[in-house]
Amino acid sequence: MNKQLNSSENKLNVAIFASGNGTNFQAIIEANLPIEVKVLVCDHPDAYVLKRAKKAQVPVMVSKVKNGISKEERENNILQCLKANNVKAIFLAGYMRIIGSTLLNAFPKRILNIHPALLPNFPGKNGILDAYNAKVSVTGVTIHYIDAGIDTGQIINQVKVKRYPNDSLKDLETRIHQVEHQLYPNTIHELINKGVL
Ligand code: GAR
Repeated sequence: MNKQLNSSENKLNVAIFASGNGTNFQAIIEANLPIEVKVLVCDHPDAYVLKRAKKAQVPVMVSKVKNGISKEERENNILQCLKANNVKAIFLAGYMRIIGSTLLNAFPKRILNIHPALLPNFPGKNGILDAYNAKVSVTGVTIHYIDAGIDTGQIINQVKVKRYPNDSLKDLETRIHQVEHQLYPNTIHELINKGVL
């Protein structure tokens, strides 16, 4: 048996980090995966993802970035919460902050991210818009491990998404999100099945 799974139900204890709408959070919690989402970590007290978590009865930790609190201190607070919940892996789902060394060192190769472009192309906060403006004919979605850079960690899975000449930005966004909501849960499932997570 995978040693990381909790003994009571054979599930992997995880945390999801998100900053905004939370459609990927929703896709993960609805995918019937062998995981227990112990906590949603969110950096914005008004983010819609908090409503989703409340409805799904997922506990939340709101961790705002504040003047006078260093990144290390903030991440240490998060780490205490993750340890208290025996969390074994972190899934970033639209979490718009760079993960620092405190969390990276505590979860080596156990932090995943989803990015709405074919990395290494169009990293950063506006992957869909940047690909749209660049008029590429193919963009996509990437699942990758987190490292100290911005969207630079080892790629786990990628799916291409076509961008048609007549696409509006909204058309492309919709197509990308549809792929995201399949690819993230499927990749998590694959990694758990392989015993990687
Ligand atoms: C998703 O498209 C995700 O790929 C992107 O933020 C969106 C969050 O949507 N992440 C990044 O751009 C990371 N660089 P959601 O809040 O509805 O899941």
